[in-house]
Amino acid sequence: MIIEPRMRGFICLTAHPVGAAQNVKNQIEYVKSNGAIANGPKKVLVIGASTGFGLASRISAAFGSDAATIGVFFEKGPAEGKTASPGWYNSAAFETEAHAAGLYAKSINGDAFSNEIKQQTIDLIKADLGQVDLVVYSLASPVRQHPVTGVLHRSTLKPIGGVFSNKTVDFHTGKVSEVTIQPAVEEDIENTVVVMGGEDWAMWIDALKDAGVLAEGATTVAYSYIGPAVTEAVYRKGTIGRAKDHLEATAFEIADKLKDINGHAYVSVNKALVTQASSAIPVIPLYISLLYKIMKAKGLHEGTIEQIDRLYRQRLYTGGEVPVDEKGRIRIDDWEMREDVQAEVAKLWGDATTENLAEIGDLEGYRLDFYNLFGFDVADVDYKADANELVNIDSIK
Ligand code: NAD
Ligand code: NA
Repeated sequence: MIIEPRMRGFICLTAHPVGAAQNVKNQIEYVKSNGAIANGPKKVLVIGASTGFGLASRISAAFGSDAATIGVFFEKGPAEGKTASPGWYNSAAFETEAHAAGLYAKSINGDAFSNEIKQQTIDLIKADLGQVDLVVYSLASPVRQHPVTGVLHRSTLKPIGGVFSNKTVDFHTGKVSEVTIQPAVEEDIENTVVVMGGEDWAMWIDALKDAGVLAEGATTVAYSYIGPAVTEAVYRKGTIGRAKDHLEATAFEIADKLKDINGHAYVSVNKALVTQASSAIPVIPLYISLLYKIMKAKGLHEGTIEQIDRLYRQRLYTGGEVPVDEKGRIRIDDWEMREDVQAEVAKLWGDATTENLAEIGDLEGYRLDFYNLFGFDVADVDYKADANELVNIDSIK
């Protein structure tokens, strides 16, 4: 069928399988163009492997280091006349490319927060790989059903301690307006920490270690964000920031537990990028559109694949010590946070209006990245051609 983008609010309800496949191929080509990663990972589990930073982590491991990969994600498959979710098509394309390159790749589609999916993953590692040497934790979810209590927790994006008011943009229309967000109550903070904090990451590592499927010297990494002063009240000092504080603290707990197998646990602080998760956060799209403009002008712009490729080559797998900041975190947001970049964003932030944003910001780049997430507006794809929506993932029948 002919597949077109169908928008509802900040969400696109359709996805294009051919465009998604082209995105995956482009990411693979990028990694291959940088050559092999010396001493890279060989058997890799990626939790949250179908989109964003997790997909880039899977691609970088497979095509930079010939790694066997197991990807866990929660995506919707296609039905007759209905497209799958983008992560489904990404994963189908990833497996096709990996298998064509002679690489092991299998996927598990289900709720990573559940005991069942953890057990299924352990069984698959035991059967096929024996052990894994890298576990990437890259979940972004608005909800988590707690596996012990059965309670469904919802995360929120709220400031703590006071009302937040600042500029935001509707990136579809380009309209800059003022957004006001009421402060969180204690329960919002607790719920957000339960969903996006480190508890589930620790549960995964405990389960994997107890099952004996973590290799001697295994590494695990989870992703965090800090960002600029303009988003601080709603992001890093808001409910999601509390969850990130918790995630970062959990890295030290996990590192302690991995000492007896000489393992390591890290949090990597990544750059702000257009993903399904970040598009839903007020203020962030305006910040990103200004940031992109400046970083592109300075030749510093990166997407998820450039970020993760750099994480592997220049942080995790240099063969030497992993460089970390004073809080023990890996920083690949270093270019975003450069003083000159941030000073220019802060200046443009004050100037930004509906009238000038298309010029002073990279609204076009934001929109393009957003549509690309769903496989639309990807270069070299013929969108007028019939596309088969019923694409299978090789390992999921
Ligand atoms: P994303 O939405 O692109 O990816 C989320 C992944 O989690 C997908 O593979 C999805 O299928 C999976 N997932 C969600 N719920 C699941 C569940 N219940 N069970 C199994 N899989 C599930 O998100 P992203 O932007 O790549 O975020 C990944 C991590 O990176 C998050 O911790 C996020 O905070 C962090 N991060 C994001 C940014 C950014 O700007 N996007 C910046 C820095 C750090
Ligand atoms: Na991800």
